Amino acid sequence: MRTQSTILAKRASQTARFTACALGVAALFAANVARPAEVEVLHYWTSGGEAKSAQVLKQMLEEKGDTWKDFAVAGGGGGNAMTALKTRVIAGNPPAAAQIKGPAIQEWGDEGVLVSIDDVAKSEGWDKLIPSQISSIMKYKGQYVAAPVNVHRVNWLWINADALKKVNAQAPTTWDAFFKTADALQKAGITPVAIGGQSWQEAETFETVALGVGGAAFYKKAFVQLDQATLKGPTMVKALETFKKIKAYTDKGQTGRDWNMATGMVISGKAAMQFMGDWAKGEFTVANKVPGQDYLCVPGPGSQGSYTFNVDSFAFFKVKSADVEKGQKDLASLLLSPKFQEIFNLNKGSIPVRQGMDLSKFDDCAKKSAADFTSAQSKGTLVPSWAHDMVVSPAVEGAFYDVIGNYWNDDSETAQQAADKLAVAAKTQ
Ligand code: GAL
Repeated sequence: MRTQSTILAKRASQTARFTACALGVAALFAANVARPAEVEVLHYWTSGGEAKSAQVLKQMLEEKGDTWKDFAVAGGGGGNAMTALKTRVIAGNPPAAAQIKGPAIQEWGDEGVLVSIDDVAKSEGWDKLIPSQISSIMKYKGQYVAAPVNVHRVNWLWINADALKKVNAQAPTTWDAFFKTADALQKAGITPVAIGGQSWQEAETFETVALGVGGAAFYKKAFVQLDQATLKGPTMVKALETFKKIKAYTDKGQTGRDWNMATGMVISGKAAMQFMGDWAKGEFTVANKVPGQDYLCVPGPGSQGSYTFNVDSFAFFKVKSADVEKGQKDLASLLLSPKFQEIFNLNKGSIPVRQGMDLSKFDDCAKKSAADFTSAQSKGTLVPSWAHDMVVSPAVEGAFYDVIGNYWNDDSETAQQAADKLAVAAKTQ
């Protein structure tokens, strides 16, 4: 017969075992929390230079002990990626982070699906590290929900140096010089301008032409303030005419061509020039081409004193797992770190968004971009790229794409008709 004390002793030992077991579970749970987070990241960096840049991101996140789950959606400019993102968010299964930028960040914020990373931003002093024009885009209701990675300049013209030499020309700084050089190149059997027939590429080219023809004040009135009279006025008509004039210097095979294929034409010398943001430099770098020697980077004709910016960023989505939340914070902190900012931007063709970085490892195109950014900022000629999601709503941007694409492809439409359509497109809700 068991005595009372034996029973008590047994209960005590049972309790001790139970406590030990509970502690074990807690320890296991703690171990789970600290276990590597699988961070799924949606991006559209799939060309040669872009993929190398995405690889830097993956590697550095994994060095932090997390696991990278790649959600790459091919398609320059990110149109396809945004469609894929919508599907996932609607299904209630968003990725941990997605490459979204500009006003779209606010729209996702309004949907209530983004998560604040303000604690990381505060502890690392992001407000002091990022120019205020850019940090305001990253915040929703005063809190950081996205982290910027770079500054791309859009108003560049990329030129094959040998092609220019063949026709004895200098890099054009005016539209007259541009068309004169284009004529000479055509006579020499070189396609003067490489372009891909995709609406974002046509829009981007037009954006650079409009800045060069009308200047920064005109650009802001038209594309930032969406002023009706400016959108359909004489300067816009001139910009549209100049844009359409370029078409005679492009090749027949442009339909559907990806932007990096067009850059490839300039790299090989099949074509001489391309209007493209400095992600194009990532392609030249992968091909081991040297700026100033094999190729030139110059601002689009007439746009020398201005700077069209395009900032890539990652927004963070609400997720259900504590592990993934930890991974999101690791990623946010990584994105603004000096080491990542340097290596990533060396590959991407852009410049660091983090201020005060040492640029000694960067090439002359990047150094020029950084100097021009600062001077444009002080002169008021720093303008957001509407073709790259920086200023107008996605709905207006899409409507502008359609107008510009139709005008480029339909030779019966006049510049005034296209300008009138731009004014209507600006009102798209
Ligand atoms: C831009 C993006 C860049 C670049 C380009 C081509 O919108 O900001 O990072 O990769 O598209 O895909």
